[in-house]
Amino acid sequence: MKRKFETLIQESIRAAEFIEHAKQIRVISHYDADGITSAAIVVRALEREGKPFHLTIVKQLSEGIVKQLSSERGDLILFTDTGAGFLNEIQESLPGRIVILDHHQTQGEISGENAGRIVHVNPVIFGIEEDISGSGVTYLCMRALNPENRDLSELAIIGAIGDSQTGSIGPHWGLLGLNKEILKDAEITRKIKVMKGLRLWGRYTRPVHKALQFSVDPYIPEVSGSEMGAIHFLQETGIELKRKDGSWRTLSELSDDEMRKLSSGIIKERIRSGSDNPDWIFGDVYELIDKNEEFRDANEFATMLNGCGKMDQPYAGIAICLNNSSYYPDVRKVLESYRREVGRGVDWIRKNPRAIRTTDHADYILAGSRISEHIISNVVSIINKSCLLPDDCQKPVFAFADTEDGKIKVSARMDDSLAERGLNLKEVLETVTKTTGGEGGGHIAAGGATIPREGLESFIEMSDNLVREALRKNPERSRLMESLMDDIENESETQNNLNSTEHKIQENGDGYGIREIKGPREERERAGREVTEEKGREEQGKVQGPVGKEVEGKGLVRYLGS
Ligand code: C5P
Ligand code: ZN
Repeated sequence: MKRKFETLIQESIRAAEFIEHAKQIRVISHYDADGITSAAIVVRALEREGKPFHLTIVKQLSEGIVKQLSSERGDLILFTDTGAGFLNEIQESLPGRIVILDHHQTQGEISGENAGRIVHVNPVIFGIEEDISGSGVTYLCMRALNPENRDLSELAIIGAIGDSQTGSIGPHWGLLGLNKEILKDAEITRKIKVMKGLRLWGRYTRPVHKALQFSVDPYIPEVSGSEMGAIHFLQETGIELKRKDGSWRTLSELSDDEMRKLSSGIIKERIRSGSDNPDWIFGDVYELIDKNEEFRDANEFATMLNGCGKMDQPYAGIAICLNNSSYYPDVRKVLESYRREVGRGVDWIRKNPRAIRTTDHADYILAGSRISEHIISNVVSIINKSCLLPDDCQKPVFAFADTEDGKIKVSARMDDSLAERGLNLKEVLETVTKTTGGEGGGHIAAGGATIPREGLESFIEMSDNLVREALRKNPERSRLMESLMDDIENESETQNNLNSTEHKIQENGDGYGIREIKGPREERERAGREVTEEKGREEQGKVQGPVGKEVEGKGLVRYLGS
C-alpha cells in the first residue's frame, strides 16, 4: 500500500509542477460537494500563487464540453473531481498541458505519446479504490504546490464526507484510509475538531426532539418520523426539552449524563425492534471550527454544498467554502428549497405505491419524470434509511428517474447488514451496465448508474438475479444481541457527544451542461470577485517566496506512508 501512496504523491507533485509553470489556468470541476470543495481548494491555491484562472462547474463532463474547451484561452486545463471518464476525448481534442485530479473510474487511457503533457492523478489507477475523494486528490496536489495550502485539508474532508466516504468497520463510523491522513492536516491546522458522538443531525441547530424525529440513520423505532414519539421518548428518558427561559435545548447542550441516558435509550429502542446492530449509533463527529454554527457540523456543511450544486448555485457554495459570509443568506435559501424538493420526492413515492415494483429480492422505484434525476439519489437514501417501503429495509432499493438527455438515472441503496451478507451494489451496477450499456459504480451500499432508456427491463432482471445470487450464499444474519447488550453501557460511557449525519444521503449525481462561467483573474466578474478577492487579497500578502516543493512533497510521502 505504501508504494501506491508514493506513486499517488509523486504524480501529485508532477501535477503541482505543471500548475507552477502555467501562466493562465482553465479549471473545470464537478457540481457536487466533492467537486465544489475541489474547486474551492483550487481557487484559494491559485490565488495564493497569483495565477489567473477561469473556473467552470459542470453537472457532468461530456464530449461536447471537452471539445468546447479546445477553443479557450489558457496554457493549462485543470479538471477536478471529473475527467477520468473522458480520457480519450481529452487527449484527442485538447492540445497542450492538462492536469486531471479525479477519483472516478477511468474510461480510456492516456497514451504514451501524451503522457508527457497530461498528468492524471487518480487513486484508482494506482490500485487505491476507496477512501480518498476528488477534493482529497486536489488537496494532495495543492499541498505539494505550496505547504501553506495545508489549511485547505478541511475542504478535502468536507468533500469526502459529501461523497459519502464516511463508512463503518463494525460499530466504528468515520473517515478511513487516506482521508484519515488528510484529516490529520485539518486537525493540525486547527480547522477541524474530531470527536466521538451519536450520529444525529442538527447538533447545534435543532431542538433535541426534532433531531431525534428527523434521524433516519440511525433509525430510532417509534421516534424517527414522529414528533410526539420523540417528545415521549425524551420525557421517558428523563431529558428536559426546554431551557429555563422556555426555549428549546439543542443536542450540543446536553450534559454527559444526559448523553449517556440518551444513547442507552436509543440502543434499547433499537434492540426492542430487533434492529441488526442496535449499538451502531456512534461515530466520529467532525466540527468545522471556523464555520457558522448552523454549518459547523461537516456533514451538514457537505449537504449544504450538495444542495448548492443541485439547486444551480455552486458558486455560492464555493464562496462559503472560502469563508465569504455574505453568501450565507443565499445558501440558507438554497438548502431550504433543496430539502423541500427532496421531501416532495419522498412524498410522491409514499403516495404512489404503484410506482414500486417489488420482487423477492429487491424494490424498484420507477419515478420516470416525477422525481428529478438530480435528487433521486437523496430521495432513495431517505426511503431506504427510514424503511419507508413495506419490506422493512431488508432489500436493496433501486430507483430510476428520466434524465434530461433521454437516458435513465439509477440510484441504488441498501442497509449495511446486506453488505455483511455479501451484497455489493457497486459490483451489481458495474456488471449490469456492461450488458445494458451506460455506466455505473459507486460503493458497497450506495451505487449509481446511467443507462439507456431501452435497457430498463433488462437492468431490473439482471440486478434481481445478481442480488438473489449474492444473498443466497449467506442467508443468516449475524445477531449478537446478548453480547451487544453487555456492550451498551461501556459503549455509551465513552460517547459523550452528539453527532449528526445522514451519510447515506448520497448526493452525487449526474447532470448536464456548463454552468456560469467566471472571468480570469484580472477580468473576473462579480461572483468570482466576491468569492475570492475579499480574503484572497489579504492572503496574497502572506504568500512566501518560492515553495520548497520537492522537500514538501517528500515529507508528505513519509507522512502518508508512515
Ligand atoms: O448518484 P448516486 O448518489 O446514486 O451514486 C452513488 C454512487 O455511485 C456515487 O459514489 C457515484 O460516484 C457512483 N456512480 C457511478 N456511476 C454513475 C453514477 C453514480 O459510479 N453513472
Ligand atoms: Zn467525487
